[in-house]
Amino acid sequence: MAGNSIGTLFRVTTFGESHGKAIGVVIDGVPAGLPLSVEDIYRELILRRPGHRFATSRAETDYPEIISGVFRGVTCGSPVTIVVWNRDVDSSPYEELKYTPRPGHADLQMMRKYGFDAWDYRGGGRASGRETVARVAAGAVAKKLLCSLGIIIVGYLRSVGRIRLRKEMFDLEALMRARLSPVKTFDPEFEKEVMDLIDEVRRRGDSVGGCVEAVAFNVPPGLGDPVFDKLKADIAKAVMSIPGTVGVEFGLGIGLSEMYGSEANDALVIKNGYIRYLRNVQGGIVGGISTGEPIIVRVYFKPTSSIAAGIHTVDIRNLREVHVKVRGRHDPCIAIRAVPVVESMLAIVLVDHAMRCGLISTDRLTLREVRNIEENWRLYIQYGPPLDKTDEKQRRL
Ligand SMILES: Cc1cc2nc3c(=O)[nH]c(=O)nc-3n(C[C@H](O)[C@H](O)[C@H](O)COP(=O)(O)O)c2cc1C
Repeated sequence: MAGNSIGTLFRVTTFGESHGKAIGVVIDGVPAGLPLSVEDIYRELILRRPGHRFATSRAETDYPEIISGVFRGVTCGSPVTIVVWNRDVDSSPYEELKYTPRPGHADLQMMRKYGFDAWDYRGGGRASGRETVARVAAGAVAKKLLCSLGIIIVGYLRSVGRIRLRKEMFDLEALMRARLSPVKTFDPEFEKEVMDLIDEVRRRGDSVGGCVEAVAFNVPPGLGDPVFDKLKADIAKAVMSIPGTVGVEFGLGIGLSEMYGSEANDALVIKNGYIRYLRNVQGGIVGGISTGEPIIVRVYFKPTSSIAAGIHTVDIRNLREVHVKVRGRHDPCIAIRAVPVVESMLAIVLVDHAMRCGLISTDRLTLREVRNIEENWRLYIQYGPPLDKTDEKQRRL
């Protein structure tokens, strides 16, 4: 199975299957000198952890272990390996499912490509949403490195089904409130609507699609190259590799395709002595290169394909069409849990490009970089949920 890695200088490789021993990541290209603790990674993993009623009931602790690349609390320049052990595994529903592939999941393609006897069907195997634990662990390292440039990324839910966030908000502090919301929104009105919808969808044994928006603040101009390695192309690839995605947009996105040039054209203006884009309609990237405006990316997710209400499929034992109810623990809305995953993929691409254009050291961080990282990371973690006694318990499980 190829294609388990992404990035050039900051190269992330994920491993592990949903119901295997562990999910993990090897990050090649982390410069020496980055202060990195298990808590730094755990803080991010908490944001994607299931275990509340708006997510799957699979009760994962998701406490990470750093296996290599960190010595005395600081990266030493060798590959950083992070592992999260799979604890709350129940593979029994997949014994029935393995003969009745879910049309919206990867089941049929996986068995066709890798062979029915070889493919790990338990929990979706490698195609499981659980693989994204590894992405969020790598995202924590990437986000911390981005602190050297003062870059901060925040993601939030933009829509669920036909319910849309009606507020445009680009204030970092206000957006960061989404980190404390069980459905990852900064807007209390929208939060209530989403919760009601999810409760109703769950009662019906159904699922629902949604959209995540992520904004990267303080990105300097110059990241990305103008032809095949455009920043938007690399971000699009990274986010579209998240399981369950169906589309991506930057800035006004598809909306621009419905406009006249006279409406769509941005304006260049002078603000505080700098050339700036007035409306940032392309979401911080023009010509494949960052403009210095916030990068705004929207990622669309399909509804979860495993639904208790039932799916129409084929029983591959006798080639009969059947209707089956999918048992097991599934997310009613992938988009909610995907918020930190989108943030992480954006962070991974930005670090890689910042290294490629010499804005973040590749071998060893300078003292100045470390100072910036420590200062900005301290500010950043204030926005997230605090670690409490339960988290201490997770460590020992
Ligand atoms: C965070 C996250 C959680 C997910 N949870 C589920 C789930 O509980 N049940 C399910 O059927 N699919 C879930 N998915 C989606 C599947 O992994 C996805 O549909 C499958 O890999 C095929 O996706 P693709 O067609 O986009 O490649 C989840 C995805 C993500 C990102």
